[in-house]
Amino acid sequence: MKKKVFYTVLLAASFIGCSQPNNGSSDIESKVDSLLSQMTIEEKLGQMNQLSPWDFDDLAKKVRKGEVGSILNIVNPDEVNKIQKIAVEESRLGIPLIVARDVIHGYKTIFPIPLGQAATFNPQIVEEGARIAAIEASSDGIRWTFSPMIDVARDPRWGRIAESCGEDTYLNAVMGAAMIKGYQGDSLNDPTAMAACAKHFVAYGAAEGGRDYNSTFIPERVLRNVYLPPFKAAVDAGCATFMTSFNDNDGVPSTANKFVLKDVLRDEWKYDGMVVTDWASALEMVNHGFCTDGKDAAEKSVNAGVDMEMVSETFIKNLKQSVAEGKVSMETIDNAVRNILRLKFRLGLFENPYIVTPQSVKYAEEHLLAAKTAAEQSVILLKNDAQTLPLTDKVKTVAIVGPMADAPYEQMGTWVFDGEREHTQTPLKAIKDMYGDKVNLIFELGLAYSRDKNVAGIAKAVNAARRADVVVCFVGEESILSGEAHSLANLDLQGAQSQLIKSLASTGKPLVTVIMAGRQLTISDEVEASDAVLYSFHPGTMGGPAIADILFGKVNPSGKTPVTFPRMSGQTPVYYAHNNTGRPANPTEMLIDEIPVEAGQTSVGCRSFYLDAGNSPLFPFGYGLSYTRFEYSDLRLAADKLTEVDKVNVSVNLKNAGNYDGTEVVQLYVQDKVGSVTRPVKELKAFKRVELKAGESETVTFSLPVSDLAFWGYDMTFGVEPGDFRLWVGTSSAEGLSADFSVIK
Ligand code: NOJ
Repeated sequence: MKKKVFYTVLLAASFIGCSQPNNGSSDIESKVDSLLSQMTIEEKLGQMNQLSPWDFDDLAKKVRKGEVGSILNIVNPDEVNKIQKIAVEESRLGIPLIVARDVIHGYKTIFPIPLGQAATFNPQIVEEGARIAAIEASSDGIRWTFSPMIDVARDPRWGRIAESCGEDTYLNAVMGAAMIKGYQGDSLNDPTAMAACAKHFVAYGAAEGGRDYNSTFIPERVLRNVYLPPFKAAVDAGCATFMTSFNDNDGVPSTANKFVLKDVLRDEWKYDGMVVTDWASALEMVNHGFCTDGKDAAEKSVNAGVDMEMVSETFIKNLKQSVAEGKVSMETIDNAVRNILRLKFRLGLFENPYIVTPQSVKYAEEHLLAAKTAAEQSVILLKNDAQTLPLTDKVKTVAIVGPMADAPYEQMGTWVFDGEREHTQTPLKAIKDMYGDKVNLIFELGLAYSRDKNVAGIAKAVNAARRADVVVCFVGEESILSGEAHSLANLDLQGAQSQLIKSLASTGKPLVTVIMAGRQLTISDEVEASDAVLYSFHPGTMGGPAIADILFGKVNPSGKTPVTFPRMSGQTPVYYAHNNTGRPANPTEMLIDEIPVEAGQTSVGCRSFYLDAGNSPLFPFGYGLSYTRFEYSDLRLAADKLTEVDKVNVSVNLKNAGNYDGTEVVQLYVQDKVGSVTRPVKELKAFKRVELKAGESETVTFSLPVSDLAFWGYDMTFGVEPGDFRLWVGTSSAEGLSADFSVIK
């Protein structure tokens, strides 16, 4: 009997092999239904079970019995093929496993952390990075990645900001869609395609106080206007899977949040992909105090719309009984299994269960080149007094200092399970290799690692600085200081790094500070002490060569801040797209040291600002300098009275008025001046990277559909509200030429 069923399935599989590419067709639906009709409830619950094995033999036993639908964290290609063979050839129905892994910003060739990729404002390079990650990971049999993370993240205390595309809704949407396209390629059933996973659904980035896993309190309107749009964009980009988040929002853990998982995702957005829990987030609902035990957690999860459970095994252990008791319907189970099987068919796993991609793709030359380009474009020039950078021929001796100058592991950043330090090129190595014949280099670490408080080496670093024409000091964060569960309350540079910078500055030598970190740090004093500052969110494998070429002027920096930089930790969260208070701060507000002793209660403005930090950030969103100078002029609106079906056609003249060829990220922001609810003071609506040779000009145009101005208003409907708007086109969220227009009925 057993053999017969297996034979039938093999026949079905070979028939599938001859079919057209799987693209969500009715063909796939009938295959799903046919397979589903052969499954026992145990096998169905097996498909809904994802395991991260500690013991291969134990896993093999479970796979053989049909108790596992997916695995994560096996990356040895022989083991992947071996376990897949057991699923395909030894389980009753021969259903292949989906092999998953957190491939977050590269598999072997590591690209900048997602926050750095966002700083490129270049969806093409982001898509290319994801494609490369998929090619490399699929060579080890990984066909599902838990990326992109598109949590709008407005609080740098939250360590996972490193893994996001920053604070802006639109930027997260664009970059998330680019990653999805890259991972999934042209068709999921290409053996080099990886199913993407939009996570964490939803509002995880709003963790109270920036402490990871913490509760969120995001009302539905803000959820819909700020946190959900990147996920909607993921659905539109064809994202194969979604992951629920760890947080409870307004008291409801996401893994049991029927409103987001069913009402929004399935009913409103018509999503037919697969939903997985986060790691044990089903069982963790017991800790939340939302479920009594694992059985309750399993029931609440599947009834809310979850399809697959990651590792906590509450589904497989309990749901048979829940169905018998009528607490979960068979239809609910069948729908979940349908979503899982559909994905397996779409991935072509029935035709190609085993590894096809050649092993040799890892660290391919073109992959390293793309990683270098991404790293170059992700670096942000925050300050450049007296044209300290780029280093010119006049510079004969350079002192290279600081704990991040030669820290291959740290510069890869968080969420790197598979990248190897041996393949990582540090700034020190790159400068030696690429420019060592042009300048004398003196290398003195000063500190051993970013948290190092032992100041004994600082004197040597200062001595090196005295002997050099320029000092380049690499500071920042080790990779362990950002990422999951790595929240911080203090955003200052760790260890004695500030002291190192201060000591170097006291030599009077031109000081270039390069910061490599997983988040925006509070660096007011260090910026003040430095002549030039480059910010590089952990740049990955090729960070060294990218930074070397920027320092020596072969590459002109073009990165822009994807997050607002606070002046002090207590100023967080601080983000550009905030609503206005009834008492916005004046730039002239008196700050703490200017307030007279025994000042009267109302002498300090009665405005919305911090007495010590003021209200403006250290660097605004969208900010970044260039070695050249860009001039904006002649902003023109084709029409200033528009209806909902029109487009806002706007153009501006952009001139490269400096001496270097360069790239500017031209940004378009809009403000809806009066709404049925208060609206953000500015929202990014479009951007373009424009490359101009020195002296060259270009007319840059945007054609923004008026429908892009829609939002969820007072009555919780989505639409454009007629009225007055202002737009800005410029170099950052804080500057730009502006024009007014109105939307009429
Ligand atoms: C927990 C993390 O929150 C999630 O992002 C990740 O994909 C899973 N663990 C799997 O490792």
